[in-house]
Amino acid sequence: MFQSKPHLYLLIITTLLLSVMSSACNSLPDHQTVNEDELLTDPIGSQDWLTGNLEEKLETITDHLRGFDMAMVETGYRHVELFWAGQDENWDYAKYQVEKLQLAIERGLERRPARAASAEQYIQLALPAMEEAIEERDVETFNREFEVFTQSCNACHHAEQVPHFNVQIPENRITGIRMP
Ligand code: HEC
Repeated sequence: MFQSKPHLYLLIITTLLLSVMSSACNSLPDHQTVNEDELLTDPIGSQDWLTGNLEEKLETITDHLRGFDMAMVETGYRHVELFWAGQDENWDYAKYQVEKLQLAIERGLERRPARAASAEQYIQLALPAMEEAIEERDVETFNREFEVFTQSCNACHHAEQVPHFNVQIPENRITGIRMP
C-alpha cells in the first residue's frame, strides 16, 4: 500500500515526527522554569553570600557598588598619582590617570545624577585643560594647570556642601610607580 502511495507514507512519517518533536518541546518550558526559579533564588558567590531573588540580589550588588563616595576615593587617589606622574615627566602615566579620572566621575554621576550640575565645570573645562597640558610634556605647564585643576575639585566640593573636603597639592607619594 505504501509503495503505491509514497506521498501518504511521507505524510504519516512527517506527522509522527512533528508530534514527537512538539511533545518534547512542550515539556521543555516547565523544565526550564523550574531550573530558572532555582537559579534565581539559589544563593550565589563565594560562600553563597549573595541571597534572595533576582531583584534582591541586584539590589545588594548596587549597594556594594556604592554611590558617589567610592568615585571620590578613586578620584582622590588618581589626583595624587597624576601629580607625581607630572613631576616624573611620566606623561603616558599622566595621560592614563586623566582618562581614569574622567571615567570615575562619569560612572559616579551615573549613580548620583543629582551631582552632575556641580561637576559641569570640572568635566567640560578642567579635565580637558589638564589633558592638553599633559600633551605639552612640560613640567611648568603641567604644574600651572594642576593648580587650576585642583581648584576645580574644590569648587565642586563647595557647590556640593562639602567644603571641608579641601583638596591641596599632594605632598607625598602613595605608590611605587616611577618613570621606567
Ligand atoms: C560633583 C562634583 C565633585 C567634583 C568635580 C569633585 N568632587 Fe570630590 N567629592 C564630591 C562630593 C559630593 C563628595 C562627598 C561624597 C559623599 O558624600 O558621598 C566628595 C568627596 C571627596 C573625597 C572624600 C572621599 C571619601 O569618601 O573619603 C575626596 C578625597 C575627593 N572628593 C577628592 C576630589 C578630587 C581630588 C577632585 C578633583 C580631582 C574632586 N574630588 C572632584 C564632589 C566632587
